[in-house]
Amino acid sequence: MTKKRILSGMRPTGLLHLGHIHGALRNWVELQNDGHYECYYFVADWHALTSDYNNTHQIKEHTLNMVVDWLSVGIDPVKSTLFVQSGIKEHAELFVILSMITPLPWLERNPTYKEMKEELSEKDLSTFGFLGYPVLQAADIIMYKAYGVPVGVDQLPHVELTREIARRFNFLYRDIFPIPEPLLTNVPKLLGIDGRKMSKSYDNSINISDKEETLKSKVGAMFTDPQRMRKKDPGRPELCNVFGYHQIYSSPDDVEEMSRECKKAGIGCTDCKKRLAVRISEAMNPVYQRQDYYRSHMDEVRIIIEDGNNRASRIARMTMEEVREAVKI
Ligand code: TRP
Ligand code: SF4
Repeated sequence: MTKKRILSGMRPTGLLHLGHIHGALRNWVELQNDGHYECYYFVADWHALTSDYNNTHQIKEHTLNMVVDWLSVGIDPVKSTLFVQSGIKEHAELFVILSMITPLPWLERNPTYKEMKEELSEKDLSTFGFLGYPVLQAADIIMYKAYGVPVGVDQLPHVELTREIARRFNFLYRDIFPIPEPLLTNVPKLLGIDGRKMSKSYDNSINISDKEETLKSKVGAMFTDPQRMRKKDPGRPELCNVFGYHQIYSSPDDVEEMSRECKKAGIGCTDCKKRLAVRISEAMNPVYQRQDYYRSHMDEVRIIIEDGNNRASRIARMTMEEVREAVKI
């Protein structure tokens, strides 16, 4: 039986946070352990340049740390192939070819492009590379003839563009690329400690590496039900971000109790948060242990990447031979 190939990537933006675990990584681990898929996960370091070309000194370090975090949350380098985009030069070659056949309006009307330009107004995003971001992403995906691409909703427009670009290639030259399916990660949205979307740029995230005191103080600072000013005010757990976390990290019985007690002002927010910090820390313990292990065995991490790059490279070389033949170049 041939396994269906899965491919996904992340930009090396620094420390991973709990939002990444629940938003993407848990899904990656499940797909890896399902047994029906051949999983390829990669660090999109060239993509990091699209918005941060003037601040590159940490990309290498972030790349290694991100792979450490992946391994720590349960990505298994025997079952999955882990690689780094810039190690597979074929991505650049395919990007050039795809960029020739991608109509500009497809890129200009990309909703992520417009949104990011507005949101990250402090950055210079008026570059060819940033506009072409989805073309590079399309190259990443179809290079491996991926059947499925696990992503969050924010990436849907990019996968949609990938599908259109692949169809166009198949139509213009030869039908060599399967049309990839987005595999949506269905997860409860974990908000940042200030109640906004968890994001490094908002400085509101709980990171995978936050332990003990840091974890306690971050959880302690979390926004709760805004109407619950004093302990004697009854709370509304369904509107409370802390409660959302309990639903992920605490047992169903505890969640039930917390909800009951919160509504009748039987438990105060401080205690509720203390309990949460303990639960998160328990859940993260095995992750911390693997993190410590890999951080003191970085050579092993480098070998894992080298090995993954070799595996990815074999496929990329074969695909590019087909592509060159199809394009007659
Ligand atoms: N654009 C993705 C992000 O910002 C990263 C990425 C690059 C990617 N290439 C990809 C994701 C290919 C899935 C498949 O998160
Ligand atoms: Fe939120 Fe817990 Fe406070 Fe209720 S007791 S408002 S669930 S933090």
